[in-house]
Amino acid sequence: MSVLMTAPLLGVDGLTIEIRGRTRHTIPVRGVTFAVRAGERLAIVGESGSGKSMTATAVLGLLPPGARITAGTITLDGAELTALSDDELRGYRGSVMSLIPQDPLGSLNPVRRVGWQIVEAIQAHERVSRVAARARAAELLTMVGIDEAADRLDAYPHEFSGGMRQRVLIAMALALRPRLLIADEPTTALDVTVQAQVLDLIDQLASEAGSAVILITHDLAVAAGRTDSIVVMRDGQVKESGPTARVLTAPATAYTRDLLESSPDLRRPRKSRFVLRDQREEVPS
Ligand SMILES: Nc1ncnc2c1ncn2[C@@H]1O[C@H](COP(=O)(O)OP(=O)(O)OP(=O)(O)O)[C@@H](O)[C@H]1O
Ligand SMILES: [Mg+2]
Repeated sequence: MSVLMTAPLLGVDGLTIEIRGRTRHTIPVRGVTFAVRAGERLAIVGESGSGKSMTATAVLGLLPPGARITAGTITLDGAELTALSDDELRGYRGSVMSLIPQDPLGSLNPVRRVGWQIVEAIQAHERVSRVAARARAAELLTMVGIDEAADRLDAYPHEFSGGMRQRVLIAMALALRPRLLIADEPTTALDVTVQAQVLDLIDQLASEAGSAVILITHDLAVAAGRTDSIVVMRDGQVKESGPTARVLTAPATAYTRDLLESSPDLRRPRKSRFVLRDQREEVPS
């Protein structure tokens, strides 16, 4: 097999990020290595502060001020991202890779109409007329389940509910059918009742666009039914990684076992399965 056939879409290898503050020097990401194949769904799971978002922002070239990649490589579709200029990275963002951010309100411009913001995002990468981009924006809103999309384009973000704003961000992130979509805790700001709907929507649209997905979550239950593989992070390092089914059924580290224990959603189905079997056995046939 040729190298091209086996090369992953995204390769993160030995990634190390350091932050030099005036008084403190920290290393929030230390030697992180993982790969994502085209179309694959990978979860990055770990407790708060484990370095999940820092890793994601490094891939997107959006590290916070003061944070710097001091070792390792990030390869996307054959290109070494850490060697690219800011301008070159901007060309990748939105089109080749995109982000669904953690905070739907903070990520939309409050003083710009929703439609205007989607049109801007489309026109930043594609040579299309404003009229065509607006029609496309309406299509995208319809696609993410927003009714009367054409009228809704003229609304401001504060006129949308939290769930609707998150849908707008999903529409924007997938507008250009990126090869890699990174969803950073995309449902934490949402009501529990719409969380599953929004995750389903991301799954469905990413499949249609053929995008690989990195789903960042602190909850293994979210990763369980939706991903092919899992990377478990703690203290800036990868504790273990592997196929989702293996990590969930035969965790290799005590830390992953603790995460499983602390996820009631994952324990419940196992228990109820036993209950069902017991009941069946008690029913005389
Ligand atoms: N802008 C920043 N400046 C300095 N340190 C930061 C900054 N952002 C994050 N950190 C630190 O880097 C470490 C990793 O943070 P990161 O945001 O990647 O965690 P996370 O795994 O995404 O957590 P969460 O689940 O809470 O989102 C933490 O110790 C955090 O305090
Ligand atoms: Mg985070």
